[in-house]
Amino acid sequence: MAENEALGSEVKITVRPNGPYRVEGSIKLLDANGGQWDLTGKPAVSLCRCGASANKPFCDGSHAKIGFQSAPTAPPPVEASQV
Ligand code: FES
Repeated sequence: MAENEALGSEVKITVRPNGPYRVEGSIKLLDANGGQWDLTGKPAVSLCRCGASANKPFCDGSHAKIGFQSAPTAPPPVEASQV
């Protein structure tokens, strides 16, 4: 079973270290005018986070050429006793 099938209707977005947002799951990708990219047959897409892609909104690997650096990590979960 592919990973995106296991997600059901859930969408998973992974912030790749020094790279794009990896989006997995069933999504619609729209521009500001409501135009839609055809993602038929694509179980996942990588969206540019560095601004250097020549194929925005998709990542084309340019982040590596420009030395883009950003590797944020999620904060640790808050324990119930701290809420
Ligand atoms: S994140 Fe890959 S080209 Fe911008």
